[in-house]
Amino acid sequence: MMTKKTIHTLDTPTLLLDLTILEKNLDEISLITKENKINWRPHIKTHKSIEIAKMQLERGACGITVAKLEEAEVMALGGINDILIAYPLSSPPKLERLKALTAKAKITIAIDSLAQAEKVNEAFSGASLLPVWIKVNSGLNRCGVEVDEVVELAIQISMLPYLQLTGIFTHAGHSYAAKSLEEIKEIAYREAKSVVESANACELVGIKIPHRSIGSTPTFKYGAAITGITEIRPGNAAFYDMCQVGLGVAEASQCALTVLASVVSVKKDRVIFDTGSKALSLDQGAHGNKSVVGYGSVVGHSEMTIARLSEEHGVALLHSDTTLTLTDKVQIIPNHACVVANLFDEYTILRNGIVIDNWPVDARGKMK
Ligand SMILES: Cc1ncc(COP(=O)(O)O)c(C=O)c1O
Repeated sequence: MMTKKTIHTLDTPTLLLDLTILEKNLDEISLITKENKINWRPHIKTHKSIEIAKMQLERGACGITVAKLEEAEVMALGGINDILIAYPLSSPPKLERLKALTAKAKITIAIDSLAQAEKVNEAFSGASLLPVWIKVNSGLNRCGVEVDEVVELAIQISMLPYLQLTGIFTHAGHSYAAKSLEEIKEIAYREAKSVVESANACELVGIKIPHRSIGSTPTFKYGAAITGITEIRPGNAAFYDMCQVGLGVAEASQCALTVLASVVSVKKDRVIFDTGSKALSLDQGAHGNKSVVGYGSVVGHSEMTIARLSEEHGVALLHSDTTLTLTDKVQIIPNHACVVANLFDEYTILRNGIVIDNWPVDARGKMK
């Protein structure tokens, strides 16, 4: 009889993905999009996996979102056909690659200035029309034009012969700094309003904006219900993590991704794991998030806090006695699942605690 492989047989550090939790998270997002009759274009920066992107498409996603051209290239090669590159590409080598990629998949890119639009238009001269979406700033103050600048940019884009403006989008990353659910709801409202108002203003001057897209994991549930929104793009909600738990957006039981660690040393006041910054990352939350304590949560061991990381060591300080001894294994929920997935070559897939497969992190490290 073949013995079932449990996590106790695995070497560490290992990236574990609980398939049942992942499916539940994806089903929930899918349901929200169906209830609100809107599209779902998940950001794959979280999982970077062709397999998981396909699970999202099977559940009704209309396509995917990426940040990097290289991520788009990997996903297109994996058979994903409708890709938004939510990034204002402008450099000549990237625009050359972008042109080549448009022969393999339907690609849309972000525009956030006239200068960039002109460069893209010039690079595409003689090629087929490139669909573009204007990125609007809804408060993150990163890329994106202000709401009152959208119409002017839309008119300018409509005069460029090789670009076709088909959408407006925003990302409310500043929701990660929110201090309450009330504040998250308020940010979601302003996020959606920035897109809907911009799109309506464009339509008043005769420019059709069929795609009106929002999305961040803290805000998407609220924004999805706002009239005029046609699409959401949550990324992290596939896995969730301690930042989302800290924000009150998810429960620890919804976190699909954990890092399996071994105890390599036990001292009077501390336990040391073989998961340092190379496995857990030093990330304590994006965009001013202050909701996490330490560097990940050790499942079932509230008696400790991972207080320090060096590259190969995670130092957990004890608040009370622990049962852990040398070589014991624990699962650690990371603070930020997206960056942790980027640190591993593959996911070890679990169903009910049994190892059932390994999936590559296909777009790991694809940052160009
Ligand atoms: C443009 C854009 N859309 C969607 C997302 C997904 O955000 P989240 O992971 O909070 O769901 C991101 C995340 O960085 C983003 O930059």
